[in-house]
Amino acid sequence: MNICVIGTGYVGLVSGVCFSDIGNKVTCVDIDENKISNLKKGIIPIYEPGLEELVLKNIKENRLSFTTQLDKALDEADVVLIAVGTPPKENGEADLRFVEAVATSIGKNLNGYKVIVTKSTVPVGTGKWIKGIIEKEAGHSNFDVASNPEFLREGSAIYDTMNMERAVIGVESDKAKEVLTELHKPFNTNIVVADIETAEMIKYAANAFLATKISFINEIANICELVGADVTKVAEGMGYDNRIGKAFLAAGIGYGGSCFPKDTNALINIAANVGYNLRIVKDVENVNAMQRFRVYDKVKEAFNGELEGKKLAVLGLAFKPNTDDMRAAPSIDVIPKLLEDGADVIAYDPVAMANAKREIANLNTVNSYEEAVQGADAVIVLTDWKEFKDLDLADLKKKLKQPVLIDGRNMFDLNQMADLGYYYASIGRRTVNKL
Ligand code: UDX
Repeated sequence: MNICVIGTGYVGLVSGVCFSDIGNKVTCVDIDENKISNLKKGIIPIYEPGLEELVLKNIKENRLSFTTQLDKALDEADVVLIAVGTPPKENGEADLRFVEAVATSIGKNLNGYKVIVTKSTVPVGTGKWIKGIIEKEAGHSNFDVASNPEFLREGSAIYDTMNMERAVIGVESDKAKEVLTELHKPFNTNIVVADIETAEMIKYAANAFLATKISFINEIANICELVGADVTKVAEGMGYDNRIGKAFLAAGIGYGGSCFPKDTNALINIAANVGYNLRIVKDVENVNAMQRFRVYDKVKEAFNGELEGKKLAVLGLAFKPNTDDMRAAPSIDVIPKLLEDGADVIAYDPVAMANAKREIANLNTVNSYEEAVQGADAVIVLTDWKEFKDLDLADLKKKLKQPVLIDGRNMFDLNQMADLGYYYASIGRRTVNKL
């Protein structure tokens, strides 16, 4: 099939390259000339494992190309994927400015039947709204709109797409259903066909549910601390129950990133707009907003409330490992609090430091973990990078002024930390060697 993908952000780029890799001819379109000229050379604007190799491979095999000219790309396309950003507005609603602009351009340039698919996460009802815009601009309705939400995770986006657990296809016509089912056949996956509103809702409900699991286990963690239980064991014991499942029960400093905070908020707004008070998801947000400060509280506790002049090595800045994405990262809230208290914060992240410097004022970074921890009064883990998981903890201890480790991600074994003589505070577990 011939596919035109509009928007070369995370979703657009990953979908585009994966659809090309399974044998389609894909043209990715963006208005950003610099981005497109870089992409043509295989220079990728985001950090995503495996993406660069796959882009280069498919450019070479003539299945993938990049352009700023929407009209030309549209000309030959059977399927058009809208994958532009839907950033949150001040009030939490999704901003559909870019989607509107793209729909208008599609309408102006429509030359024959196409299936126009929304990949961006958009409020329920947007599919119909897009249809109206295109119809008005094109002056005819020889096209179908559809919804095909994306469930990929940053850091494993290629894997998630190539091994998708389901494809959700929201359609209004049999023709669109056939085209999109055919397109997803090579993925050999479960296909859920629904109407457009339902497909749009599936995406929000799925993300809000995952966020709920995280906030739920974080609250359980907070109780575990008070009653002397271990949340990692609690999660293990719960997770063997298939009805619950093991995934997304890792307690920590709460979720960040570009999706969960935005989508939970948008869902609350979608509900409010139809007069429904979405209590559970509101509380999920409240718990999440509070959870990141538990790490800060634990640092304070370790030093009896006095952080002035303490050298604190922060390991990890990105909202999660394998990404340089800083959107809604807990570090954005935690580090300024430490700085306000007069601590000397030295941060290290394998890939997110440049982005972090734009988000966090007066952030001091160093180029290696060793430099960060040398002579530190405490180490604070904010992102669960494998590099940190694999640390030689005995060696780390020698580098520190004091063996204090505050772990927002439950990376290390309690008994091992106790044996090594660390003061070790984590989330939902007892603090070892408490002074
Ligand atoms: C998420 C969804 O997983 C994906 O399906 C959707 O399309 C976009 O949003 P992403 O934001 O890339 O993907 O990251 P994910 O790996 O899901 O993690 C989200 C956040 O939750 C991270 O901050 C992570 O640290 C946190 N998390 C995740 C936990 O705190 N505990 C867990 O058990 C799992």
